[in-house]
Amino acid sequence: MRSAGIIGLGSYVPSKVLTNFDLEKLVETSDEWITTRTGIKERRVTAAHETTTTMAIEAAKAALADANVPASEVDLIVVATVTPEYFFPSTACQVQYAIGAPKAAAFDLLVGCTGFVYGVVTACQFVQTGSANCALVIGSEMLTRIVDWTDRKTCVLFGDGAGAAVIAPVPEGRGLLAFDLGSDGSGGPLLKAEAIKGCCGASSASINGRPTIFMNGNEVFKFAVRVMADSTLAAVRKAGLTMDEVNLIIPHQANIRIIDAAARRLGVPMEKIVVNLERYGNTSAASVPIAMDEAKRNGQMKEGDVIVATSFGAGLSWATFVMRL
Ligand code: ACO
Repeated sequence: MRSAGIIGLGSYVPSKVLTNFDLEKLVETSDEWITTRTGIKERRVTAAHETTTTMAIEAAKAALADANVPASEVDLIVVATVTPEYFFPSTACQVQYAIGAPKAAAFDLLVGCTGFVYGVVTACQFVQTGSANCALVIGSEMLTRIVDWTDRKTCVLFGDGAGAAVIAPVPEGRGLLAFDLGSDGSGGPLLKAEAIKGCCGASSASINGRPTIFMNGNEVFKFAVRVMADSTLAAVRKAGLTMDEVNLIIPHQANIRIIDAAARRLGVPMEKIVVNLERYGNTSAASVPIAMDEAKRNGQMKEGDVIVATSFGAGLSWATFVMRL
């Protein structure tokens, strides 16, 4: 099998900023509480003209430009999202048409915040086997549209945005080295949003018929720390490497305390970990690709580096990949 890896990255975030001070006017909270409990200072919010689809299109265009690949070369598009504009058509098909990728197969993937990492691993399988030559993997979310703005336990956490990666053949020894994917559906009730009103019993959260996020924060917190560390170690071992040989970790940006605790379990210094959640909050499937794109643009992530992307989320689910750039 040939090697497959990321050859381009791009992202898009709405320009509208919602700060912790803005939230103080909406619910009984404070900048101090949100900052110390989560690390988040502000998040982006979609304007009326912005959706998961429009943001995915912009991130995809930016990633293709970064890879210097025309959209006509793309033969697979995978969009990871939990907040699609439609149940159908898929967001991926809308992106396919909008960017002009006539030979692309396209599908959405729903694995909560873990979706982008699952998507990269999936696309790499297509490219490694020769079934595809150029794949686009996008994480795009408009979580602020499914947030209950009266629930201070969740509304302070989430934000909107999109990130994308171009996956293509790379020289041997580069690209995807190993991965670890997992799920535990018994934890499904800990983190959920109903899809169709009325299917999930009286306990489901909704406002004016609009489904909203329900989360048991404490249980998700414990789960997250455990799986981020365990899954990272499992993937790094599968790659035949030690943690010392990893140059950079790009974790899901949910809460700085989760990242801190996972880093301590792994014995990795924070300088080796990409953190941007103070500016965007938790953007679910978009969080890892937005962080990767920023890390590349600010020189934190360089050619030849061994990187680890690791995420956890609804399902419950988790995923990690190890890649040499
Ligand atoms: N402002 C002020 N006080 C608050 C707020 C707020 N925004 N939110 C909760 N509190 C209060 C609570 O009511 C509680 O008060 P009480 O003791 O009087 O009942 C107190 O603060 C402590 O609440 P906890 O829930 O115990 O606070 P904790 O330190 O656990 O932080 C948090 C909560 C931030 C949600 C944390 O549990 C967490 O980060 N969990 C993981 C969330 C996560 O990562 N989700 C990712 C998945 S998203 C996806 O997959 C789509």
